[in-house]
Amino acid sequence: MENEGILKYIMQKILHYIEEGVHVIDRNGKTIIYTPAMAEIEGLEVKQVMGKHLFEIFPSLDNETSTLIKVLETGELINEYKQSYLNLKGKKISTINTTLPIVEDDKIIGAIEIAKNITEVSNLSEKIIKLRQRLIEPDTSKRKIKKHYTFDNIIGMNKSFLKAIAFAKRACKTSSSVLIYGETGTGKELFAQSIHYESHRKDKPFIAQNCAALPETLLESILFGTSKGSFTGALERQGLFEQANGGTLFLDEINSMSLSLQAKLLRVLQEGYIRRVGGLREIPIDVRIIAATNEVPLEAVKKNHIRKDLYYRINVIGIEIPQLRKRKDDITLLIDYFIRHYNEKLSKDVWMISEELLDAFLNYSWPGNVRELQNFIESAMNMVLEEHVIKREHLPSYVEELMLQNSSLNTEKREFVHVNNLGEYLESVERDIIKSYLIRNNNNITRTSKELGLSRQNLQYKMKKYKLNF
Ligand SMILES: Nc1ncnc2c1ncn2[C@@H]1O[C@H](COP(=O)(O)OP(=O)(O)OP(=O)(O)O)[C@@H](O)[C@H]1O
Ligand SMILES: [Mg+2]
Repeated sequence: MENEGILKYIMQKILHYIEEGVHVIDRNGKTIIYTPAMAEIEGLEVKQVMGKHLFEIFPSLDNETSTLIKVLETGELINEYKQSYLNLKGKKISTINTTLPIVEDDKIIGAIEIAKNITEVSNLSEKIIKLRQRLIEPDTSKRKIKKHYTFDNIIGMNKSFLKAIAFAKRACKTSSSVLIYGETGTGKELFAQSIHYESHRKDKPFIAQNCAALPETLLESILFGTSKGSFTGALERQGLFEQANGGTLFLDEINSMSLSLQAKLLRVLQEGYIRRVGGLREIPIDVRIIAATNEVPLEAVKKNHIRKDLYYRINVIGIEIPQLRKRKDDITLLIDYFIRHYNEKLSKDVWMISEELLDAFLNYSWPGNVRELQNFIESAMNMVLEEHVIKREHLPSYVEELMLQNSSLNTEKREFVHVNNLGEYLESVERDIIKSYLIRNNNNITRTSKELGLSRQNLQYKMKKYKLNF
């Protein structure tokens, strides 16, 4: 008896504090448990609901639309049912509900509903989809057409790089799926766009979605769209597959997509139609998939980051873009290209970089690849006034140090650092490294924290400490 009392006490505490809302009714439809989280979701007070019949509190519901009553009648579990509705305070709420019967001696004696509030996620999803819609709608308001990349923008003569280009050009003639592998900043998006704009799909949309940037449920509704639920206020919305119809969908960082969503993607690719989340209608689609990964594809498969079946389905044409450090012959070409580019953009008259700097560039490991090189040239050209040659002094000091640290020429130098205050010295090194990674990643905190092996919070703390919020 005493044990039961403790258990009941523990259950009450758990129910009071968990984030999911819980609503339990007895066999007559009367509420016997109603938690504060559920009250928050539905815009009610706990005491308003306790002991009352469901329809007394929610007069707009009936036997058909109430999941709790349905479960009471059928005795069947309703798993992860998504719904959107206006709560009693008029606020639009989206939840994922699981409703299950309580059975004793083969009789249904009640029903439990557990609701997870995904309103925030859902609102975000809507916003993203609306923004995208605006981007790809026909240009009626003389909006500037977004610049896109073509093969003319891809610079490189290295043998293995030319092979990647040859594969990409072949991909323009078909609609087969493409898997692009390359380290960060090697030009995966550049390749994907070039393929699209040189294929017969060029007049249809090219839509890019990063699979690492969003949580699973949000990504799913963005890709496949959502369907009107049985409640008022629910949404009927196209996903990216429908928006990209006839065109190309670029799925970046596919190795970060959850395995269950990868399974759904595979089904879509095999069957040629999609079903909106919560919907039943099969909508035929004709979309070319270009996927990208910054992890060696076979390793990603081995580590279960990419499903094997999906890998075979999307790797019909596999393109590997080599790292910049593996094609040093392209470094000079790219330097010239970016100098010309920024001469025009910044109205400068730069001709070249100094021999000393070229030497450092050729010996540097370029972990951020072409993007990093581009950023270095851009920041140096901003420092140049009337000069025609970019020299060491035009580069920010942390870049210089970074290059020297990584350069094979300078290994001896590092053994002879004289330090008066080790703590301060280490902090200055830490600051410089974080700064260079932030610049390399265009201030993308998620990516920088991942690369540095820090939590986002820890990185943000350090950025504040070193005043790196630019
Ligand atoms: N071969 C190249 N020629 C000219 N510019 C290039 C080349 N490769 C990359 N770039 C430039 O480098 C930058 C990064 O390219 P892109 O965004 O395509 O890289 P990515 O592989 O998608 O990187 P991430 O994995 O970080 O998303 C872009 O500004 C792009 O124009
Ligand atoms: Mg990219």
